[in-house]
Amino acid sequence: MTAWQIALVVVCPVTAAAIIAALIWLNNNLIAVTRYNVPFKTEREVKIVQISDLHGKSFGEHNNRLISKVFALRPDAVVITGDLIHEYSMKNILVALRTVAVLSAVAPVIYVSGNHEMRNKGYRRFKAALTEEGATVLDNSETEVCGITFAGLNGASNKNDAVFNFSKDPSSAVLLAHMPHHIERYARAGYALVLCGHAHGGQWRIPFTGRGIYAPGQGLFPKYTSGIHRVKDTEMIISRGLGNSEFPVRLFNRPEIVMITLVPKSCACADEGREFNKAKKSD
Ligand SMILES: [Fe+2]
Repeated sequence: MTAWQIALVVVCPVTAAAIIAALIWLNNNLIAVTRYNVPFKTEREVKIVQISDLHGKSFGEHNNRLISKVFALRPDAVVITGDLIHEYSMKNILVALRTVAVLSAVAPVIYVSGNHEMRNKGYRRFKAALTEEGATVLDNSETEVCGITFAGLNGASNKNDAVFNFSKDPSSAVLLAHMPHHIERYARAGYALVLCGHAHGGQWRIPFTGRGIYAPGQGLFPKYTSGIHRVKDTEMIISRGLGNSEFPVRLFNRPEIVMITLVPKSCACADEGREFNKAKKSD
């Protein structure tokens, strides 16, 4: 073997391994921001930042990279749509609670649980700690922030009819619900806008198709993994989320923060907002 052949045999696999490692790191750690404009019954523009499915992950020490990204968006409210923690370990909980505490200092934080919190024997204590850190925990209940009504389902109630029972006026409310695949029921309840997570973007996404491979509750090639969807009069936005659960690696599916701007329906810019959504910008 010549020196060149030896170099090729050694260098090519090492280079390929380095490229794959970098791709995997970027796909799991480089946070994308996706923006949507939604015409809404509101007097003024309201900016909502959605965080979902963190699963106890920390982007940088103390989640500082995630927190900086949220701060830069200057939200009027931050909503967390479940699976903030993955398993009940002190590490997960402390990271999550500190993140909520810091975010609460700049904007109201509204939280609903996901299926992971529901499995968690320590959820009651976690919920109390979230409230202490400044979050409003919605447990099949509503709150008003910046003139907008936010309704929230707990992680156990996505699958049942609780969504019909607590909102005074769903047609002018934002529903926070972890699971997107119950959209038909949320739409029957009449919510104007639903914010969901849970599907993790389908975990591995097929480039240029906008499709994911798998989501819990939907199986292979699921319909609801990301983006904006409309059923009857209900718009639903799905975050691809930030962390991972049982399956540890994302591919072509960067962790995502969603930024929703509620635009007054009377505003001339409302139609422009719909066009903007079609473009589905991420950065
Ligand atoms: Fe999740």
